[in-house]
Amino acid sequence: MEINVVPGNLAEQQADCIVVNLFEGVTVPGGATGAVDRALDGAIRSLIASGDFTGKLGSTTLLYSDGKLPSPRVLVAGLGELAKFDLQSARKAAASAYRALAKLKGVKSFATIVHGAGLAGLEPESCGAVLAEGTLLAAYQPPNYKREAPEAGPATMTVVEFDPQKLPRFNVGVRRGEAIAHGVITARDLSNEPPNVLFPAEMAARAKVLAARSGLNFTVLNEADMAALNMNILLAVSRGSVHEAQLIILEHAPGTAANEPPLVLVGKGITFDTGGISIKPSDRMEEMKHDMSGAAAVIGAMNALARLKVDRRVIGVAAAVENMPDGNAFRPGDILVGMTGKSTEILSTDAEGRLILADALAYVARFQPKAVVDLATLTGAIGVALGQQAAGLFSNNEELETALLAASKRSGERLWPMPMWEEYVEAIKGDMAEVKNSGGRTGGVSTSAKFIEHFTEGYPWAHLDIANVAWATAERDALTPRGATGFGVRLLVALAENY
Ligand code: BES
Ligand code: MN
Ligand code: ZN
Repeated sequence: MEINVVPGNLAEQQADCIVVNLFEGVTVPGGATGAVDRALDGAIRSLIASGDFTGKLGSTTLLYSDGKLPSPRVLVAGLGELAKFDLQSARKAAASAYRALAKLKGVKSFATIVHGAGLAGLEPESCGAVLAEGTLLAAYQPPNYKREAPEAGPATMTVVEFDPQKLPRFNVGVRRGEAIAHGVITARDLSNEPPNVLFPAEMAARAKVLAARSGLNFTVLNEADMAALNMNILLAVSRGSVHEAQLIILEHAPGTAANEPPLVLVGKGITFDTGGISIKPSDRMEEMKHDMSGAAAVIGAMNALARLKVDRRVIGVAAAVENMPDGNAFRPGDILVGMTGKSTEILSTDAEGRLILADALAYVARFQPKAVVDLATLTGAIGVALGQQAAGLFSNNEELETALLAASKRSGERLWPMPMWEEYVEAIKGDMAEVKNSGGRTGGVSTSAKFIEHFTEGYPWAHLDIANVAWATAERDALTPRGATGFGVRLLVALAENY
């Protein structure tokens, strides 16, 4: 989609539709909405007076201008209560407006004001960014495997602003929002791709193309490279698959920060999780194609950071592996020794995410990181605990935890702190080996985090369990379509910018 930012009056715009907005409880609209209302002889006031439109956040109503304005249609977008309005509300309003327009056959272009920069008084650059983010995320369509292309929504958005002081800041914000949204879309596309298309080497190939486009350094380790590094735990998970595992490494090292200790992001990239020999039930197993959503978020975020030219050194590592049962597969009962030398007993080959992270997290110590954050669709249990409202945040470092919670607030991607008490370790003490890869049902989210912690020596570390938020079994709202959500990209960008 093309987004233009232009000076002028919204009411005078020539487009298939113009978008105005309204807070709940307003009876006489002001600003650009007021000007449009007057041009329509009070049609918006009548709409409010009728009680048919209350301005509820995410609601929209369409009016026809019957020649009173250059644009034939006016969409009124509800912003909700002024007192509750924040950047996430602005994202939702933009997304809902786009979805309403996409349903109209005749709308290929639209003009809009920036939600939230008027009455709500939010900072203009951020308002521009969330307008672009919300719109582009609502316009998202997954990879298409049908012979006929899906119907496309409006392809041009014109952002109109009267105040010449605000205009350049809106423009900067819109370009920021575009970069972030493209990162989210990249992550969604990777996670939505079928598992026969997106196997580890294909993930690496796509990451390479994306890296070249956005100016990231790209390196990849194959199985021989990883064997030379003793990454035997990760390699064991890969043994049942015909596809070779790949460790994908992306680096953003801008001139001024090229040598600083990096922020390192590590993603679980299981391109398909059958459970291995501890095979999963077949009901909804197809969803396990998105078990690489942590890796997808890391790849998406790295691309966004590069496009945004964030003044920080950041390294992204995606551990891409397929977990399959096979005559060569690893088994429950196996004892593995990976890069750290710690012996690990396998109780379940379905607890494979923590295994590939064990070696990937040991590997990243070589970067002497300032901090490491891993993202993984790790446990079904995190959804039992939190529903789909927040990802689980596990950390043994207060400063990093605080920074992540602040990034969560700014990005609108919710995190909730979960316990990491030492007592949880008891459940994962091995019988014949130092640790075992499952602590059983009780406390499953925390014991999985404690398992990973064993392999994170030498740097501050946090783990995000995103198994409950990376995938939506049905459309959640205008911002969150069915399928991959791209969760984590916006959060990681916000973290990198402020940590
Ligand atoms: N990939 C799954 C977790 C998952 C479940 C992700 C649902 C997304 C949606 C993970 O590898 C897994 O199988 N975890 C097991 C752990 C258990 C064997 C200790 C689980 O949660 O049941
Ligand atoms: Mn599994
Ligand atoms: Zn898994």
